[in-house]
Order: sequence, then C-alpha cells, then structure tokens
Amino acid sequence: MSRFSEPQDPLFQALNSSIEFDFRLWPYDIAQSQAHARMLAASGIVSEDDAAAIAAGLEQVREEIESDRFEIRPDDEDVHMAIERRVTELTGDAGARLHTARSRNDQVATDVAMLVRAHTLDARGLLGDLMAVIVDLAERHIDWPMPGYTHLQRAQPVYLSHHLLAYFWKFRRDLQRFNFCMNSTDDLPLGAGALAGTNFETNRMFVAQELGFGGIAENSLDAVSNRDFVLDYLSAAATCATHLSQLGAEIVLWSSEEFGFCQVADRFASGSSLMPQKKNPDAAELLRAKAPRVVGRLTTLHGVLHGLPLTYNKDLQEDKEQLFDAIDTVELCLRVAREMLATISFDRDRMAAAATDEALAATDVADLLVKRGVPFRRAHGIVGAIVRTAVDSGRALSELTEDELAELAPDLDGAYYELLRDDAWLESKVSDGGTAQARVREQLAQARHLLAEARD
Ligand code: ARG
Repeated sequence: MSRFSEPQDPLFQALNSSIEFDFRLWPYDIAQSQAHARMLAASGIVSEDDAAAIAAGLEQVREEIESDRFEIRPDDEDVHMAIERRVTELTGDAGARLHTARSRNDQVATDVAMLVRAHTLDARGLLGDLMAVIVDLAERHIDWPMPGYTHLQRAQPVYLSHHLLAYFWKFRRDLQRFNFCMNSTDDLPLGAGALAGTNFETNRMFVAQELGFGGIAENSLDAVSNRDFVLDYLSAAATCATHLSQLGAEIVLWSSEEFGFCQVADRFASGSSLMPQKKNPDAAELLRAKAPRVVGRLTTLHGVLHGLPLTYNKDLQEDKEQLFDAIDTVELCLRVAREMLATISFDRDRMAAAATDEALAATDVADLLVKRGVPFRRAHGIVGAIVRTAVDSGRALSELTEDELAELAPDLDGAYYELLRDDAWLESKVSDGGTAQARVREQLAQARHLLAEARD
C-alpha cells in the first residue's frame, strides 16, 4: 500500500535519484544510524534487542559494501534508503524501527556535515605537508637572488626564499579558513526530524557525543535547511585552489625558455607528440586551470541556496556533486603541488643574472637621495629622468658620466656609483617582513614554529 497509484516514471527517477553520487556517504550514514539506534534504546524508544539486531545488521551492511557485495536495487533512490532497505531485509521489524524519530532530512544533513568534517581534516593535513615542503625549499635557497616583479616587470630584487615563503602565508590563511569549517560542522542536525522536531523524547546530545559533534543544532528548521558548512568548505577550497593556481602559473612561466628559472622533475612533465624537444609543465598548468572549477562549485551552490524557502527542499540534493568534486579536485591538487615542489630544481645563475639588472636599483638610488634630504616624491622624479637618459642612450645606469649626473641630480655624488657596484640592494631591505637575509631567517623560524603548532 502506498499513497501513489502508479510507479515512478523512469525519467523522473533519473532526475530524482541521487544514489549514483551520494553512495560515498555510506560510512557516515552507517555510523549515524548506529548512534541513533543506541540512543533510541537508551531512551526506551526501541528495545535493547531491536537495537542489537540493528547494530548487527548495520555491521553486515558495512561488510557487504567493503567487500563489494552490496547490491543496489532500482528503487534505492539514495544511500539512506539503500542502507535502511538492506538492514530491514536482514533484521525484519527491528530494521523497520531504525527510522523512528528521524527523517532523511536531518539524516542527510548529518551525513554531509560528517563528511565535510573528515575532509576538512584531510585538507588541513595536506596543507601542512605542502607548507612543510615550502619551508624546506626556502631554507635551501635562502640566499639565491632573483628579480621580484610587479606587473610582471622586474621591480626589485628579492631572495628566492622570500618569494617561496610568500606562498607559505597564503596557505596558512587557507589552513585558518579550513579551521573555521571545523566550527561550522560542529552542531548536530540529527533529531530535528523532517523539520519540526519529533514526537519522541530523544537524547540528541547523546548522539552528538557519539558522533563527535560539539553540540546540537538548536532550531529544527535551521537544522534541516542549513548547508553553511558546505559553503564554508567550498569557500576555503576555492581560495586554496586559487592560491595553487597562482603557484602553478608562476612555475609555468619560470620553466619557459624565456625565464629559465626552474625545471619541474620529469615525472611531473610531459612531452609533445610532435616536437621531440618539448618538456611541458602540464602539472603546473593544470594547477593553474583547476581553480575556476572549484570556484564554480561554490558559485553553483550559492545559486542553489539563494531564494530557497525554509526548510528542506529537494534542491538541497544538489549540494553533493558540487562538494564532492571540489573535495576531489583540491585534495589531488594539494598532493600534486607538494610533490612537484619537493622535486623542483631552480637555476641559480639564470635567476642571479636577471636580478643584477641595474635598473632594479632605481628605488635604492631614490632612497639615497631621500637620505640626503630630498623629499621622496622629488627623488622619484629625478631617478626617473636618470633612468630615461640611460635607456635612451642604450647605457646602464652606472655608465652615465659624472657630468651628466651632476646635471640630473646635483645631490648625488660618488655614492651613486658605489651603490650600483655592490649588490647590497637586497641586504638593505631590513624592514620587518623584508627580503634582507636576517629578516627572511626570522620569517623562516616563525613559519616553522607555526607549522609545528598547526600539526600538534
Ligand atoms: N537524497 C536526498 C538529498 O540528498 C535525501 C533527503 C531526501 N528527503 C526528502 N524529503 N525527500 O537531499
């Protein structure tokens, strides 16, 4: 007997069924059903015998899934129905009591929150691994000069260690964003029922404790409609993927013949089917390309959620493919980035040669004038004129004559030539967070300290 007079249309089933993608929720669905059944027995809502039968049935389902013997039936619309259907086949009335004081609405929200939490922990671990590699790489290239860029124009020289550590801080902020996700998965939805609460005196805190939630969702309507934890994960993942994309993009540039700053290991590159000389940094290119996909997952879920009336709507089923794809993409990219950086090699001479371009000292010349009392804005203009004179006549800054210099910048003297002769432009960047080696060493120590703390 049922409410319906005809079976579902196969087209509707194709649209409505989620089992093809939501089956990966099974470990969480089984764990929550175990906790729910224990709570039902402890609260006197089902008998201890029924609870024991359910527990054994769920264990058997786990074994069947793990050994690939679990059979999905055409009527199994989603993972929740499939598991409950099988437990009921195995245990009869006991299994048929499992869904007491529960709805698929609070059930699915609980499964997804548990999965988000597990993958948030994974993301944190993977980020920690990547940050550790970056710190090691920075340590090994502590005093390798290279040009720093703005607008992709050579701007001022920096140490490679300093450049690499810039990524450490980006990834550390990602770590903090994932930490925030831990909070947003902390309230147990289960026990909210379909939307209004249930007709039984359940013990939701009992279930929360069994499943590792810090507390319970305080409002049943919010509990079944809340997907903020998915948005928070996707948002952290999108920003992290964007950082990986920036890293990938730099490696692509740097491994070009034109830059020649680095080479990825052969096992992270591919050849061309046509041109035998080619070594393509595909891994870095794909890191560059994956970010918009993850951002798209976030944008899609915002689209699904916007304007949704309370409480559960089938629209919410659309959260899962977005989430799962973002998880798979970001976890893979983090693994690849870690391995690629662990095996990358840099070309010290190429980088140093690019960094000795005298034009990179222009700001330092301006600062020399400032130290002689010229206001910075005016100094900037004076050095601009010096650079233009040099560029127009095809000479380096140090090739200007003393007469020319006296005319262009009366406040400058021999110190100008000295400044251009020694390559102190790096070591003079002594402000906090600057590229002088002493500062980079402090930064490195701080990075190591924070990393150890994060991994505790
Ligand atoms: N497969 C559904 C989802 O992912 C589970 C909840 C279904 N609830 C319902 N009332 N039909 O959202």
